[in-house]
Amino acid sequence: MQPKPNIVHLPAYQPGKPVEDVQRELGLAEVIKLASNENPYGASPKVKEAIAGEAANISVYPDGASHRLTDAVARHHGVRPDQIIFGAGADEVIMMIARTFLRPGDETIMADSTFSQYRHHAEIENAVSVEVPLIDGKHDLPAMSARITERTRIVWICNPNNPTGTIVTAAELEAFLSGVPSSVMVVLDEAYAEYVTDPAYPNGLELLKRYPNLVVLRTFSKIYGLASLRIGYGIGDASVIRAINPVRLPFNTSRFAQAAALAALEDQAFVERCRRMNEQERKALQQAFARLGLESFPAHGNFILVDLRRPSNEVFDALLRKGVIVRPGHKGYPNHVRITVGSPDQNAKLIAALEALLQEDRVPRA
Ligand SMILES: Cc1ncc(COP(=O)(O)O)c(C=O)c1O
Repeated sequence: MQPKPNIVHLPAYQPGKPVEDVQRELGLAEVIKLASNENPYGASPKVKEAIAGEAANISVYPDGASHRLTDAVARHHGVRPDQIIFGAGADEVIMMIARTFLRPGDETIMADSTFSQYRHHAEIENAVSVEVPLIDGKHDLPAMSARITERTRIVWICNPNNPTGTIVTAAELEAFLSGVPSSVMVVLDEAYAEYVTDPAYPNGLELLKRYPNLVVLRTFSKIYGLASLRIGYGIGDASVIRAINPVRLPFNTSRFAQAAALAALEDQAFVERCRRMNEQERKALQQAFARLGLESFPAHGNFILVDLRRPSNEVFDALLRKGVIVRPGHKGYPNHVRITVGSPDQNAKLIAALEALLQEDRVPRA
């Protein structure tokens, strides 16, 4: 049996290494994972109660349309319920958008170093990915605009961008959106939006009112701390959401995920605490990197892309042996690793491990 020719070369997604595997393989007592941009503070305690409350309904299918959660998210963002679609993570929303709108041969534009799933799903749909180089780790919106043709269907903007952590500003985004033909969809991936504290950051939800071709992606995996439950969403014009709904699996989000997301959304004090802690720890890490003579990109999410001036896989291995898992191998950044902003304790351990690595200089400099 042969798979479709356009997917035979595609690799399966490579997740960050699980802590348990590393502990077992290297015989380490403690391992910290700063590789998948998860929330080091877990989730709101209210989430656990909500999940326990759903245990009695384990044998009953969930509400496929997530009505209660949809209403709550709509109220939270000031949009209508028919503007929202849920997925098993924002990942699934990306897949559904690609499946709904990309035909073989269509063009779709994205940055050259950004979240891998935009290109991945474009390839599965046999669409043509047009990659536009980042400038200093930032989306080059004028260059992306210049690449739009009559074959372009979707432009993907990751803000903050994974892996560089940079943002496009409100003024830059508005200038871009005002020049995009209304027939071209712009997907604004705001998986890390709640972490951003820079006032120049755009309000994607406000822009939806003026740009019906805009779709905003959000997730409960990051600041809300529900990564294992798999729940994220897209917000767009009701006509766009209506178009996507038929490709959604009937029960794509679980009862546990829906109940947990509802409880998480209600605990905005937890979100605020995580945002503040992350900002403080992000600054502390950036200062520590600077002290160690390491350059990093201006980070706005809960992760930092830092230049170790050595092949990133070697840095990964060396830090792994010291019990710290980071993310190497980012396209265009062979000597950088992406490090999640952890708790104060985790960050102290990371910096100690980095300091030791730089001192030992076990890894030859490139
Ligand atoms: C930019 C970006 N978008 C989307 C996702 C997908 O998140 P999830 O599927 O967990 O909601 C991630 C996950 O790391 C991400 O970094």
